[in-house]
Amino acid sequence: MLKIDALKAGYGPLTILHSLSLHVASREAVAVVGPNGAGKTTLVKALCGLVPVVGGRLAKDGLDLTQASPQARPSCGIAVVLENRHLFGELNVHENLLLAERHGRRTRAEHHRFGMDEVVALFPILGEKWHQRVQLLSGGQQQMVAVARALLLQPDLLIMDEPSTGLAPKVFKDIQVVFEKLRERRVALLLIEQNVRIAAAIADRAYVMSMGRVVDELDGADWKSAAQSDRMVRAYLGHSNSSDPTFDGYQVSKFTN
Ligand SMILES: Nc1ncnc2c1ncn2[C@@H]1O[C@H](COP(=O)(O)OP(=O)(O)OP(=O)(O)O)[C@@H](O)[C@H]1O
Ligand SMILES: [Mg+2]
Repeated sequence: MLKIDALKAGYGPLTILHSLSLHVASREAVAVVGPNGAGKTTLVKALCGLVPVVGGRLAKDGLDLTQASPQARPSCGIAVVLENRHLFGELNVHENLLLAERHGRRTRAEHHRFGMDEVVALFPILGEKWHQRVQLLSGGQQQMVAVARALLLQPDLLIMDEPSTGLAPKVFKDIQVVFEKLRERRVALLLIEQNVRIAAAIADRAYVMSMGRVVDELDGADWKSAAQSDRMVRAYLGHSNSSDPTFDGYQVSKFTN
């Protein structure tokens, strides 16, 4: 479904992604994990067309998207929830969702579309805040609007950049219902997540990124126990002996003993 081959991308003269390759098969949930600055968000931006690709190839269902505009994504079945959500703050919840509904991909199986009623049932708080301007919502509520909006684009691949960031565990739990829904609807997921424990609970397998490259791939039992893995500690901490609070709140000693 999604195929990235030897992708090279960055900001002006600064190359951040170096020959990065990965793929997501249809209906698969795949995580990309890695420490701060690994290039995860840059990868998402390259996938969205917000960062120019200077080498390699990016394709969805065989269609070459390497140089396609950001606007080309929804019609290809790709929806993205970016790190800073990119909502229309001046518009209310309903208006934000309506825009997505109107621009949603035309799917053949009409009854498989995500409807407005359904996304409100997923996130009931949105119904309560229906006429509230989005900029006045809490971070968690804005994240729900961003996810609901992405679903209304009728994707068969959803890409999410760190959906757990800044959210209390309770609020993130409210958002997690969407992962079950994606499986039910056979929507593939590319989940960018710094928290390995969260990612392992959601995704079938994972790529580990460091310094703009994929440095490891995990699946099966290796991936499900990744939060205890030496491979993961090396990817996150390199050869440093200092503890890294971003690594799921664990102390390094727990892994190196
Ligand atoms: N607009 C930009 N211009 C120049 N360099 C940038 C820009 N955005 C990010 N970078 C650099 O690209 C590198 C990768 O950043 P990126 O945001 O992709 O990392 P990340 O893996 O998403 O990190 P985090 O876990 O903190 O979100 C960093 O060194 C960063 O300084
Ligand atoms: Mg990031």
